[in-house]
Amino acid sequence: MTALIENLEADHKRFRRYLVVFNEEVRNLAQSDGSDYVLLNQIATYFAGYPDELHHKEEDIIYARLATKARSRRVELRNLQQQHVELSQRANHFSDIVSMILNNEQLPIDKVVEESVAYRNILTAHMSGEEETLFRPARSLLNQDDWWDIEQAISNLYAEEINYEKARSVLAIETSLDKYLKT
Ligand SMILES: [Fe+2]
Ligand SMILES: [Fe+2]
Repeated sequence: MTALIENLEADHKRFRRYLVVFNEEVRNLAQSDGSDYVLLNQIATYFAGYPDELHHKEEDIIYARLATKARSRRVELRNLQQQHVELSQRANHFSDIVSMILNNEQLPIDKVVEESVAYRNILTAHMSGEEETLFRPARSLLNQDDWWDIEQAISNLYAEEINYEKARSVLAIETSLDKYLKT
C-alpha cells in the first residue's frame, strides 16, 4: 500500500513548490514590488486548509500505527506529529494576516516577512523529518495487515470526519495554483 505514501510525498513536493512562490510574493510585498495579492491569498488559504483537513489527518493514522512497530523511534515520531498543531496555527495565523493586508490594514511588514520565513522553515524541516522518520520506515516496517487497517481508518476518516465543503474548496485552489504555476 505504498500508494498512500506516494500521495503524501506528492503533497510534500507540491507544498515545497507553493512555498517558493509564497515567499517570493511576500518578498515582493515587503519591497512594494507588485505582489500578486490574489495568488498570495490563494496560497495562504491553501496552507491553512489542505494540510489540516486532509494531509495531516492521513499522516496521523500512519504515525499511530508506525509507533507500535518502531518503538525506538516513538519519541521522534510523537515530536514530529505534534508539529501538526503548530503548523496549523501558523498557517491559519498567516492566512488571517493576508486577509488583513487585503483589507488594507497597515501591518508591520518586517513581521509579516519574518512569519512567512518561519512558516516555510518549520514546514520544510517537518517534511524532511517525515520523509526520513515516517515515510521511509513505514515502507519497510509496516506489513499488509497494517496497511489494510490504515486504509480502513482512512476510509472511516473520510466517511466521518472530513469537511467536504472545506476539502472541495481547497482542492479547487490546488487545481488553480497548479494551472497557474505551469504557465
Ligand atoms: Fe506532517
Ligand atoms: Fe507531511
